[in-house]
Amino acid sequence: MGSVSLKIGDGTARFNRATLCSSAVNILMLFSVLTTNLFALYAFTSAPKDHHDQNHLLHNTHKNISLISEQVALILRQIDVSQKKLAKMEKEILGYESLDLSRPNLAKELELFLQHHQLPLGKDSRTGITEMVASVGHSCEKSVDLLSQYMTYKVSGPCPDDWSVAQKLILRGCEPLPRRRCFAKSVPKVGIFPFPISLWKPVSDKIFTWSGLGCKSLGCLNNKKMSRDCVGCFDLANGSENQRFVKARSKNDFLIDDVLALGNGGIRIGFDIGGGSGTFAARMAERNVTVITNTLNIDAPFSEFIAARGLFPLFLSLDHRFPFYDNVFDLVHAASGLDIGGKPEKLEFLMFDIDRILRAGGLFWLDNFYYANDEKKRELTRLIERFGYKKLKWVVGERVDAAAGSGKSEVYLSAVLQKPVRV
Ligand SMILES: *[C@@H]1O[C@H](CO)[C@@H](O)[C@H](O)[C@H]1NC(C)=O
Ligand SMILES: *[C@@H]1O[C@H](CO)[C@@H](O)[C@H](O)[C@H]1NC(C)=O
Ligand SMILES: *[C@@H]1O[C@H](CO)[C@@H](O)[C@H](O)[C@H]1NC(C)=O
Repeated sequence: MGSVSLKIGDGTARFNRATLCSSAVNILMLFSVLTTNLFALYAFTSAPKDHHDQNHLLHNTHKNISLISEQVALILRQIDVSQKKLAKMEKEILGYESLDLSRPNLAKELELFLQHHQLPLGKDSRTGITEMVASVGHSCEKSVDLLSQYMTYKVSGPCPDDWSVAQKLILRGCEPLPRRRCFAKSVPKVGIFPFPISLWKPVSDKIFTWSGLGCKSLGCLNNKKMSRDCVGCFDLANGSENQRFVKARSKNDFLIDDVLALGNGGIRIGFDIGGGSGTFAARMAERNVTVITNTLNIDAPFSEFIAARGLFPLFLSLDHRFPFYDNVFDLVHAASGLDIGGKPEKLEFLMFDIDRILRAGGLFWLDNFYYANDEKKRELTRLIERFGYKKLKWVVGERVDAAAGSGKSEVYLSAVLQKPVRV
């Protein structure tokens, strides 16, 4: 009698990540599983028949049919199991996991937020979609406990004072975050000034959120080196912040008016990556150019500070695709914040995204980009050259980093590059 036995994953057929790495292999696997079983089924059903009496035969046929259906059910179950195994292997190979809503201890609000909603009138003819899906970063799976904590609150009540938890999630790649149905903590914005006075007028510490931060005042922040691009950058009155972009400290510092002149009057909107306290946008605003400043709140209330100056902060990590359409910006400005580390491909993805949002003829201003080593320098130069930008300015210079206190000179690149027309 044809006995059918499928042994997938228990030793008969063992796969490992290295050898099984393409969907083609998966499909081939599934195909062979299917054909093997179909042959077995065929052998089973076409077993030689003995002709005894009619009743016995009928009884036997009946028995055999139920045997067959049992076998078929077994085969189907085993195919199902192997399909699931293959899907799991594929996920592991891609490093991709999706949020499992059936897991225990998941916050109720998270489940509700992620539920799909069918469109009431069926498929929408313009967009072709049939359901509304709420989005959340797939890497949230890795921080699902923290995410559940973030999504635990009283509906319509005050949110926990937890913006730093949100930022922690974003930094772990859980971006975008789910929406919440609670009221975020609000701070009275007393004493903000009208535009354009707001660009340079110091405001009270009280209008910022300091929870989860080491410093609790702007004075404290100004005594700390926040980053290469923000040294005392919250001191708008006395420090060097008000000199930036209008006075050069070295040949690596280009002046805003010179760069605008390179744009032949076509620079109206721009994007500043890792823009510190928003001074680049402020200087641009004085020249009627609208600049959006991309920043997170690492160790300081950057977003609120920029907003208090009457400028537009964008709270987004550099791992996130820029939420802008193709070819929209006249100018993209970036400093050392562009150095995101990791594999060279990581910087490549970022550079292609910058290229995407910049219009043909638009300017990419690389401002005092710090080279950690020669390899980094070659890598970046090669990458920039691949884009075919016109080098309007290109200055590699050394500078003693006084703030670092080491007295060692460091190498920086400043460049203004013009995006070509590609057809
Ligand atoms: C049913 O199976 C038995 C063996 O289990 C076999 O002897 C018999 O011929 C089969 N009957 C039919 C109708 O296929
Ligand atoms: C700037 O300096 C003046 C005079 O030294 C001082 O009164 C003022 O508080 C300082 N402003 C800031 C923001 O540090
Ligand atoms: C900016 O725009 C205002 C209003 O249109 C105008 O008065 C001012 O001269 C402009 N400034 C510059 C630097 O172009």
